[in-house]
Amino acid sequence: MSAGKITVVGAGHVGEVCAQRLAEKELCREVVLIDIVEGIPQGKGLDQWQSAPVEGFDTMVTGANDYCPAEGSDLFIVTAGIARKPGMSRDDLLRTNAGIVRSVSSEIARVAPDAVVIVVSNPLDVMAYVARETTGFPRERVIGMAGVLDTARFRAFIAMELDVSVEDIQAMVLGGHGDTMVPLVSYTSVSGIPVSRLVGRARLDAIIERTRNGGAEIVKHLKTGSAYYAPSAAAVQMAESIVRDKRRILPAAAYLEGEYGQQGIYLGVPCKLGEGGLMEVVEVELTDSESAALAKSADHVRAVMASL
Ligand code: NAI
Ligand code: 2OP
Repeated sequence: MSAGKITVVGAGHVGEVCAQRLAEKELCREVVLIDIVEGIPQGKGLDQWQSAPVEGFDTMVTGANDYCPAEGSDLFIVTAGIARKPGMSRDDLLRTNAGIVRSVSSEIARVAPDAVVIVVSNPLDVMAYVARETTGFPRERVIGMAGVLDTARFRAFIAMELDVSVEDIQAMVLGGHGDTMVPLVSYTSVSGIPVSRLVGRARLDAIIERTRNGGAEIVKHLKTGSAYYAPSAAAVQMAESIVRDKRRILPAAAYLEGEYGQQGIYLGVPCKLGEGGLMEVVEVELTDSESAALAKSADHVRAVMASL
């Protein structure tokens, strides 16, 4: 099972690697890469397509500065916008990226009114809201990527701590994509063993803190931009679950209509992703402190929305 066409908007760091990963996994027949900078999406698309004979995939990759080639796409991954530089928070990107996401979203609604949209641009939870408002799509078809990335960072750090395979770490990081994210220790396990039996509280707290600062840690190293290998892997995992109708339960930003006591905002929650996008927001019981942390995270998302 795969899609006909997937369009990635924004041919910068996250977008270009998304395109290559989608093609290598043959998740669709054609990947279209769109950017406002002339030549960049065309050059990157052609370069990626020329890797096909070596890597052995048949997904065609093309680039464009307009939306004609994106017409009728099944799915969009929106990575257009500016990225963080050292000293900037995700929220500093707010106004610029809101304008960009609005213009991209109206083009998506025009050329592919039935598409599913995965938003990546930051600040994530608010940009997903802007995309849903502008497209007018139902919540099932506009989902934000952050939780898979934050959870991947948490899993990677736990695997390092215990010197075990990342594959054996199950975890779930909920909440807004930012300093208020909520790693759910009560649902974190290592091959079924609760993580709290294997890692002491102080070390676990240090890992949680490192996860919260995971994006900033990469920005500090790179100096000129933010992370893109793990973010693109995360967005493509969501895309795969949707186009292959795998119905995976992944943490993602969904528009909430009362779930987890929240309404009218995007927030990271466990989501069943399959054909048509969001199939279900999965509600799980949280401890009192996890519930309080999720409510605090929702308050932060609301504050950022209000400042827009
Ligand atoms: P980048 O600067 O490398 O690429 C952004 C691209 O968007 C540029 O090529 C730029 O020309 C293009 N662009 C700007 N306006 C556009 C428009 N109107 N239409 C089409 N393209 C347009 O940035 P990078 O590293 O790829 O990050 C992209 C966004 O994703 C940033 O906002 C970043 O903060 C966010 N991000 C979010 C993550 C998450 O977990 N949700 C993780 C990583 C990045
Ligand atoms: C990250 O977490 C910048 O949001 C991006 O790496």
